Amino acid sequence: MHLGLEGKRALVTGASQGIGLAVAKGLAAEGVEVALSARTATTLEAAVSALRALGGRAVGIPADVSRPDEIARLLTRVREELGAPDILVVNAGGPPAGTPTALSEAAWAKAHELTLMSAVRLADGVLPAMRTARWGRIINITSVSVKEPILNLTLSNALRAAVTGFAKTLSVEVAADGVTVNNVAPGYTATERLNELFEDAAARARLEASIPAKRFADPAEIAAAVLFLASVPAAYITGQTLVVDGGATKGVH
Ligand SMILES: NC(=O)c1ccc[n+]([C@@H]2O[C@H](COP(=O)([O-])OP(=O)(O)OC[C@H]3O[C@@H](n4cnc5c(N)ncnc54)[C@H](OP(=O)(O)O)[C@@H]3O)[C@@H](O)[C@H]2O)c1
Repeated sequence: MHLGLEGKRALVTGASQGIGLAVAKGLAAEGVEVALSARTATTLEAAVSALRALGGRAVGIPADVSRPDEIARLLTRVREELGAPDILVVNAGGPPAGTPTALSEAAWAKAHELTLMSAVRLADGVLPAMRTARWGRIINITSVSVKEPILNLTLSNALRAAVTGFAKTLSVEVAADGVTVNNVAPGYTATERLNELFEDAAARARLEASIPAKRFADPAEIAAAVLFLASVPAAYITGQTLVVDGGATKGVH
């Protein structure tokens, strides 16, 4: 299938490693000019250099997407250095773990800014130009926790569900303008973050064995779903969540 993305422009947040970097690389390989963002300038620059070494066109713009002022500055710089994005991929680190009764008001407020409001503010920032152009793709990276809540990940369970509800509602509002809004929900994916969490080889092996595919996802496999939803042929798919989990989620909806 020809994705038809040559010459488009994309903003990918949380793009210095893991799933975000795989998405940025995948888009660049399709001829998309990519603005990568993350908080840490050094790792971000290394990611941009890696993309350029592969022949991709990329710029790096540091920003913390949990902060409205930094999102505003990021969007201004993207417009100056790249032009208005045709594709927005909203990604960042996940909120911290915690059981429902163990979380402070401050932890809820922080996770709300990081996970929900980043998606709202980034979409708000890119939508006017997408609607004028009558073409746009917004894709949020969420988690399988939107299908089956993961015990102990209360903030992720609650706020990714909120992102899903926001995306569905937004998708209806902008559908007639040629803009689609979807989510990709990864299962366990072999990123730097997962490797840190599972230093214990036995625990890692048990977890992998519990997945029908018997392995973690490669970040490029999550990126493949994002690329498809960003593509020209995916124009009629909107308001959806595409789960990429090696068969781990048991429900059918
Ligand atoms: N890996 C999995 O198994 C898995 C499964 C389901 C869902 N997810 C979700 O998918 C997302 C990506 O996962 P991952 O494993 O690729 O994570 P990761 O390896 O920890 O990478 C996270 C990326 O986001 C950036 N980031 C973190 N906080 C940020 C912030 N406030 N503002 C801007 N950038 C920020 C990080 O760079 P800086 O630290 O420099 O900012 C990094 O580039 C996460 O939300 C995660 O919860 C992952």
